[in-house]
Amino acid sequence: MECRRINLIDRSGGKYEIRMCQPHDLAPLMDMYALFLPRPASQGLPPEDHEVCTEWARGLLAIGENIAAWTDERLIGHAALIPDLQGRSAEFVIFVHQDFRNLGIGTELAGATLERAKTLGFRSVWLTVSVTNFVAIRLYLKLDFQYCDMDDCERTMIIKLGG
Ligand SMILES: CC(C)(COP(=O)(O)OP(=O)(O)OC[C@H]1O[C@@H](n2cnc3c(N)ncnc32)[C@H](O)[C@@H]1OP(=O)(O)O)[C@@H](O)C(=O)NCCC(=O)NCCS
Repeated sequence: MECRRINLIDRSGGKYEIRMCQPHDLAPLMDMYALFLPRPASQGLPPEDHEVCTEWARGLLAIGENIAAWTDERLIGHAALIPDLQGRSAEFVIFVHQDFRNLGIGTELAGATLERAKTLGFRSVWLTVSVTNFVAIRLYLKLDFQYCDMDDCERTMIIKLGG
């Protein structure tokens, strides 16, 4: 089933939509990551070096399930599910362009991605996040991710999806 949310309005009144990102969307994806700040923003991602960043994005498009937020044809947010080898669980990453943060777009994009994970039959989705990334942690807790591991620098969080 296609994952698409249209006619969305962010907290500043801006229109956007959420839809799947296809392998041919590398160009709009890199248009966002080329200007992304800070870079890296979290745990080395997105990579600072342009070539490394392009390969990372290309890899995500090849092996992951990719969902993006768009204003017209501009990509302003990107989330990916990276499946484990058995296809039961997936790692989650999310990035919203700095000009569009704190507008509710990350919450909507993450929600759409978890819905997609359920549709694909994943039993759980997990992530790691820096202990000081308070915005991301707030977002994950709001979506019902639970802490499952923690060290001085990083938390691992998981959400069970059933199935
Ligand atoms: C994390 C990220 C994806 C969130 O996207 P976003 O579109 O800004 O998220 P939202 O606007 O939906 O929600 C942000 C929440 O954090 C809250 N927030 C903002 N500043 C905060 C702070 N300093 N401390 C705690 N919460 C904060 C906002 O109030 C909002 O919560 P609310 O909706 O309950 O009011 C985005 O900030 C980002 O791309 N960061 C850089 C990359 C990153 O860290 N990715 C995550 C790790 S992979």
